[in-house]
Amino acid sequence: MGHLLAKKPLSTIFSEAQESGEHCLRRALGSLNLITLGVGAIIGAGIFVITGQAAAQFAGPAIVISFVMAGIACAFAGLCYSEFASMIPIAGSAYTYSYATLGELIAWIIGWDLILEYAFGAATVAVGWSGHLRAFLRDLGMSLPPMPTSHITLFGTPLQLKYDYVGFLVILVITTILVIGIKESANFTTGIVILKVAVVCMFIALATAFLVSHGWKPNYWHPFIPPNTGERGQYGWSGILRGAGVVFFAYIGFDAVSTAAQEAKNPKKDMPRGILGSLVICTILYILVAGLLTHLVPYNQLNVPDPVVVGIRTTGHQWATFLVELGALGGLATVMLVMLLGQSRVFYSMSRDGLLWPWASKIHSRFRTPYLSSIVVGVFVAILATLIPLSVLDEMTSVGTLLAFVLVSAGVMVMRKTHPEVNRPFKTPLVPLVPILSILASGTLIVSLSYWTQLRLIVWLVIGLIIYFTYGRRHSKVQQALQLPTPPEPRREPSMAD
Ligand code: ALA
Repeated sequence: MGHLLAKKPLSTIFSEAQESGEHCLRRALGSLNLITLGVGAIIGAGIFVITGQAAAQFAGPAIVISFVMAGIACAFAGLCYSEFASMIPIAGSAYTYSYATLGELIAWIIGWDLILEYAFGAATVAVGWSGHLRAFLRDLGMSLPPMPTSHITLFGTPLQLKYDYVGFLVILVITTILVIGIKESANFTTGIVILKVAVVCMFIALATAFLVSHGWKPNYWHPFIPPNTGERGQYGWSGILRGAGVVFFAYIGFDAVSTAAQEAKNPKKDMPRGILGSLVICTILYILVAGLLTHLVPYNQLNVPDPVVVGIRTTGHQWATFLVELGALGGLATVMLVMLLGQSRVFYSMSRDGLLWPWASKIHSRFRTPYLSSIVVGVFVAILATLIPLSVLDEMTSVGTLLAFVLVSAGVMVMRKTHPEVNRPFKTPLVPLVPILSILASGTLIVSLSYWTQLRLIVWLVIGLIIYFTYGRRHSKVQQALQLPTPPEPRREPSMAD
């Protein structure tokens, strides 16, 4: 049992970071930079695709309430993430923090679980991107060949499989960019963030202007909370809750802010401002988009790949349709890039620690990137994006991220007890209240998701544990260091005095 709780010494983490130059990051980011970083990482398929689909299937216009609920859960989790990130100021992820503090087994579970956030998340966004590309081309009078389909029967249920080859190809293109290595251009990234936010604001402005000039008609907000159909999660309050679990996806990415803790000029002030600021901005934008969209278009017509485009079309501005599509294509591409990058780096770290196979940390001699890890992740994600429906991918991403939030929040409380002496440039306020609320909020969202999603999460974790016990634990560098025989005491020769 002791070994399952083996911790990676903080000194090792810091010296590894020093080798890769991470430890010398400049403290150059102020609150505004952090807010931009957060908004850039957050806005993506969640608002452009999933809002409409969640309104159509689960909550109706009350999807607005779902957004508030998910935003609150993220705010609690964000405050907990920041404490970890500022305490172990490495440009890493929850995996690294937990290895140093909570021990190997929890670190493994978080690392394995992050695959759901990053890999399944990237696949979800790829499917959303594919839908937008089709809509964009359709508006230009062009079209792509239809997706091939086939029919299978699973557990007695007939299913139609769609092969989304566009999702497959876009992931391969982004993977190639990652393998060659990106020199991230701050201007380019900022440009895309501005475009994304501008497009969302444009939708809000045009939809409001249209509704005001038409005396707030059409009004499809009646009923605001459609009555429950008798099934858990289909409208009514259980539907709002399920909607919150599903649109939670739209907030994923704010943890990018916490990973920049080391680069913040004044982490104590800038981190909560960065995290809460980007969350508040996105929550306001999301509520406005969701509210206006469901006002303009009957919610049951929003189960389409490009709901925001459907909304803007209702206002009659063709040029704006074009811009929304362009903004969505650019914005979603950067989200995929960030997620695939994050995934290959988590694999890389786990492999360097001996928990995954050595190929995952092999660095390309010319490009200096963990190319094998990027390629394996890319092919896996491309296959997911081709075969698995968006609704399944989205819920798996949400459940995986929510579980990571629960573990990180619990970690903050554990660390306050076990390592009270470590310097914390940013402290989660009102511990243990905030971590407990965070666990409750994320836990409630996990429970609100479909039983199938919960079952899939359990299966995913069991597969992970099998790999850990058959491979990771045996090859773990931390475990090996623990097992090194302690050098024998030098034998004392009997002396005259004996
Ligand atoms: N929040 C990101 C998105 O909505 C993952 O695409």
